[in-house]
Parts: sequence; C-alpha cells; structure tokens
Amino acid sequence: MNYDIAVMPGDGTGPEVVREGLKVLQAAAARAGFSYDLTEYDFGADRYLRTGETLPDSAIDELGGHDCIFLGAIGHPDVKPGILEQGILLKARFALDLYVNLRPVKLFPGVDTPLKDKGPADIDFVVVRENTEGLYASTGGFLKKGTPDEIAVQESVNTRKGAERCIRFAFDYASRPDRHGKLTLCGKTNVLTYAWDLWWRAFNEVGDADYPGITRDYSHVDAIVMWFVKNPEWFDVIVTDNMFGDIITDLAAMIQGGLGIAAGGNINPEGTAMFEPMGGSAPKYAGQNVINPLAAISSMQMMLDHMGQKDAARWVEAAIVHAVSKMDSLAAGKMGMSTSEVGDLVARHVAEGAVVEEGGW
Ligand code: IPM
Ligand code: MN
Repeated sequence: MNYDIAVMPGDGTGPEVVREGLKVLQAAAARAGFSYDLTEYDFGADRYLRTGETLPDSAIDELGGHDCIFLGAIGHPDVKPGILEQGILLKARFALDLYVNLRPVKLFPGVDTPLKDKGPADIDFVVVRENTEGLYASTGGFLKKGTPDEIAVQESVNTRKGAERCIRFAFDYASRPDRHGKLTLCGKTNVLTYAWDLWWRAFNEVGDADYPGITRDYSHVDAIVMWFVKNPEWFDVIVTDNMFGDIITDLAAMIQGGLGIAAGGNINPEGTAMFEPMGGSAPKYAGQNVINPLAAISSMQMMLDHMGQKDAARWVEAAIVHAVSKMDSLAAGKMGMSTSEVGDLVARHVAEGAVVEEGGW
C-alpha cells in the first residue's frame, strides 16, 4: 500500500512538531510495511507576508488529490488574527468539504488532569463536531453599520444533509469495536428550537432506522461542560454542531492534559482528511526545540487510523504512553527533554514495539 500525503508545516512551532510526526510515520511505515510519498506545501504566515496569498484555489484542487494532509500550525504575531485562520484552515475545511471534525479525548496513564479523583478509566471519549455549517457558515450581515442603530446578524446554517452525514459518521464511530456503543447528541433543544429540532429528528430517525444497537443519549451544551468536569466517564461518542463542538473540545482538551497532547482530524470520509495538533503556532517557543510534539504525533496516530493502518495506530498510541511516562511534564520547556528527543523516543518505541510490548508499557 502506498499513501499520498500532503504536509503543511505552517508557522511558529508547526515545522518542529511536524518533523517529529513524520519521524514517527517513518518508523510506523517501516514496521507495518507500507510506503508513502510526501508533498510539502508552504502555506502559512511567511508566504502570506511575502505574497499576500493564503490558500489559493489552485492549491485546493491539489490538496484534495492527496489521501491525507498533515498540518502543523497556523498563526503569526505579524498577521492580523482571523486572516490565516479563515484563509487557510477554514478555507480548507469548507473547500474540501471536511465535514467531520474528530476530536478524541483520552487521558493517558501518567498524564495530569485538573479533575480530582478522575483517571484514564474515566476520561476516554470522542467528539464528532460538524465542521462546515452552523455559525461558521458566515452568513448574515450588517444593517446601519457604524451608526448607533447598528445591527449585526450572524446566522446558524443547519442543513438536513449536513447534520445527517455528520450524525451517521458519529453512529458509525460509536459502532467501532474500540468504542462502547453509546452516542450522545449535544445541543440546545430548549432554546434554539429550529436548528436543534432538525438535529434531534435527524439523530433519532437515523438511529431508529440504521443503528438500533447504539444507545442514544442527549445533553444540552451548557450541561455537557458541567458533566465533562463532574462525570466524564458517562461519555463515549458525542455529536454536535460546529460552534458547540469548538467550545466543548477546548474544555475537553484540558481534562485530557492540555494542548500538548490534544489532536484533531478534519475528515471527509469520501475524500481527503487533514490532521492537526490542537495547539497553535506558539511563536514564543518557535525554533527552540522545546515544544511538545505529542499532539502532532497524536494527530499522526489519528491519520494512521484513518488510513486503515490500525496496527500502526495502536503502536503509536502505545509509544506515546511510553514517552509520557518518561517526561517530566507535557508543558513546553518543562518536558525534561527536547522536542526532537520526544520524537526520537516515540519513533524508537514504534520501531522496536514488538520487543517492548512483551515487557509491557
Ligand atoms: C479549532 C480552532 C479554529 C476553529 C479556529 C482557529 C478558526 O479554534 O480548530 O477549534 O474555531 O474552528
Ligand atoms: Mn477551537
């Protein structure tokens, strides 16, 4: 099997963490016996500052032709907030119709969580966030802009097709052998009665018709963040809209140990998929070899899983658990090792996994 992978290292610490992710990919491929081609793209702040270009339409077609895209980070202090996020990240999500944002939330053994009395057995769920609609659809407008009577309208777009395809992905995910067959819809049916009426009907109709074996549950969005703190063990797979998903996954990242470890995938199950660490470009740590690459390595793990390399994905996860046990902290500059040393440690564990596995980790 040969995979065609696009690499977008991006800004700040992006290139440093991408390098470690690719190191791990190399080790996984050698052991699993698959091959891949890498094509690097320089989209990001430097190119924007040089040329004014974010993600041109021609690049979209090219990126869409790859099996997967591995992204480092986007963002630079010299670029006004919003330009790169919208011009690169959101443009890729929309133009490539990456309609699922997948965010696994798993507390690995030895990782600190701010939740008292909760451990790895309690924090292990996955959020399936709709990634192309809702408040992110950017419809609305101003009336009387700049006057005291100014009105700004920002609409939430919810299509039956958009909600349903995301809900189906979530039901399929909850059906995986490594999940527990429970799907929670996270919404706001008591107030946002148009959007969540549509979602509610789609959720139940799809569940009744095609997933009778999956247990269905519902939580309002304001309640779910409370439960994340108090009873995270209740959750297996969660499906929600774009804005709610954006918000709840930041809280979720914190309970799994923070941005040093949190990863995400932007997936079109019928097309390409883009994997990225959740943390930003962390400009103040750039070029120092001190940033934690585990979030990027985790997103590589998700990429392997998505490509169908399930064994390789499990090896990488085991290697991450091993690395965590050797690190002083997950925070940049406090790991007790450098960025490249963490990458080396994970890659070596992946490469030698057969031996290490016997000893357990
Ligand atoms: C995320 C980020 C993005 C979002 C930003 C950078 C546009 O916060 O991936 O969650 O809001 O979706
Ligand atoms: Mn976010």
